Amino acid sequence: MDAAKESLALSADGLAVEIIDQTKLPRKLEVIRLSEPTEFFEAIHKLKVRGAPAIGVCAALAISVFAKRALKKDPAISSLTLANYLTEQALYLESSRPTAVNLDWALSQMLDCIKTASHLSAPKLQETLQRRALEIYEDDISRCRKIAEAGFPLIKESMGILTHCNAGRLATVKYGTALAPIYLAHERGISLKVYADETRPLLQGARLTAFELTQAGIDTMVLCDSMSSILMSEGNIDMVIVGADRIAANGDSANKVGSSNLAIVANYYKVPFYVAAPASTIDLSARSGKEIPIEMRDQEEVRSMWYKEPMIYTRAQIFNPAFDVIDASLITGFILDSGLITQDFKEGLAHAKR
Ligand code: MRU
Repeated sequence: MDAAKESLALSADGLAVEIIDQTKLPRKLEVIRLSEPTEFFEAIHKLKVRGAPAIGVCAALAISVFAKRALKKDPAISSLTLANYLTEQALYLESSRPTAVNLDWALSQMLDCIKTASHLSAPKLQETLQRRALEIYEDDISRCRKIAEAGFPLIKESMGILTHCNAGRLATVKYGTALAPIYLAHERGISLKVYADETRPLLQGARLTAFELTQAGIDTMVLCDSMSSILMSEGNIDMVIVGADRIAANGDSANKVGSSNLAIVANYYKVPFYVAAPASTIDLSARSGKEIPIEMRDQEEVRSMWYKEPMIYTRAQIFNPAFDVIDASLITGFILDSGLITQDFKEGLAHAKR
């Protein structure tokens, strides 16, 4: 795998998925191999691979890897035994993180494929699954490129663009979602400045967004999450673009915790606020943000993870939701692979999902 170009890939022998271990960035660009179900679960849960589209693609490739490894271990395995084993592993991986619907979406694509191909021999079932997983992989690349084109017209020379968390190339196979139009504008010679929220508590903005944008030669400045108001009040921010983990039918969008605060501040200062995502992030079964499950994570991520010593008195409790929901009324528009939506979100999102 070429780690300078993609964040994950199926290994050449099809027996593993190679990922950039994002927990090591920006200190070290290390590619690791995942092959066992527990390794995939741990990698997703611990955010070695992260970002809604990337975890979906990773899980789809994982099912293909499990099929190939099961056949290697027992070449006489029946397709029924193989299908049952893979179904069990898909459900296991689905439980690794609850908010990003891309994970459910990609695994349900693989489960559908298992069902429709279960009449085939085990080797043919494995081939079919590998083909489907690679289609999901390629589909992510092409949708992100389309998001870049859909968002590009919004970007003008010398703009200041604020983003939260990391919705860049590391969060997808390539290009990213929120950062995709920015990459394209940069490629086309438009100069701009990106302001990256550091993104407490796991610092995806500071560690990942600042890393990938500066590596690409894009002018980037990191700020603490609480500093967006002063930047906006001074007129430095022309637009906010964030990604999403799940977009409900009415446009309410779950994204990294702090996104909702940012949208409220942007709204106050009348700074346009866009959400960029592929169709796999839209969940029409959730009518509003109230129906989106929010992942709660370990208190230690806030208490001690980035410090030499714990920074919070041991008896104090810690609130650590990984996501919040941006109310649709605060969103100026959606930058989707099918185009830009700036009004009638309900109709537009339903159409985009078709
Ligand atoms: O917890 P993470 O780092 O997986 O959260 C990621 C985000 O919130 C991203 O903004 C979202 O997944 C979109 S990525 C293209």
